[in-house]
Amino acid sequence: GLRRADNIHWQALDVDRDVRAALKGQRPRCVWFTGLSGAGKSTIANLVERGLVARGCHTYLLDGDNVRHGLNRDLGFTEEDRVENMRRVAHVARLMTDAGLIVLVSFISPFRAERASARALFADGDFIEVFVDTPLAEAERRDAKGLYAKARRGELPNFTGIDSPYEPPGSPELVLDTMSATPEALAEQVVSLLRA
Ligand code: PPS
Repeated sequence: GLRRADNIHWQALDVDRDVRAALKGQRPRCVWFTGLSGAGKSTIANLVERGLVARGCHTYLLDGDNVRHGLNRDLGFTEEDRVENMRRVAHVARLMTDAGLIVLVSFISPFRAERASARALFADGDFIEVFVDTPLAEAERRDAKGLYAKARRGELPNFTGIDSPYEPPGSPELVLDTMSATPEALAEQVVSLLRA
């Protein structure tokens, strides 16, 4: 049938992504953090951004909780909504890398297929998947926002790890084991990988 995007044609523009990247003097990339709620994604992504900015990089951090206040305020936590959440965020990240930025993305992003779709928007080596590996029991023990307790009481349906799935990455560029290192040390690993 007729799709909404039929009769829309890609417009070639004179100032392209290479020109914008050269202007910034950096290699635009997307660093995609994935992990359970409360795994430490935002904490580590925030430290990575500080480290990059301290080195003169121009960055942007897209964070789940924040994006869900604006662009994605119409989305909840059903499987369908999470898929759409990831699709939009992936395209925003792609636009921002086209603009020349190093983009940090911090969402649970629980589904392997949608993370693969996000990766497919980027050139080889420009998408860095970082698994913030915190076991469910530990995320639930920390429960910084009290959401696991709510979910266990049945007050928060479709909660990741409780009654909504989380599919860990099969071959991420980096695994951060939050049980054995500080957020600062883990953030440093990400910054080093980007510098390499
Ligand atoms: S997703 O799965 O990628 O679409 O999720 P994300 O956009 O990262 O949003 C996760 C944050 O929303 C809060 N929250 C929930 N998380 C998981 N499941 C349910 N049902 C839910 N309801 C609200 C929660 O604070 C998540 O934040 P983080 O920072 O990940 O703990």
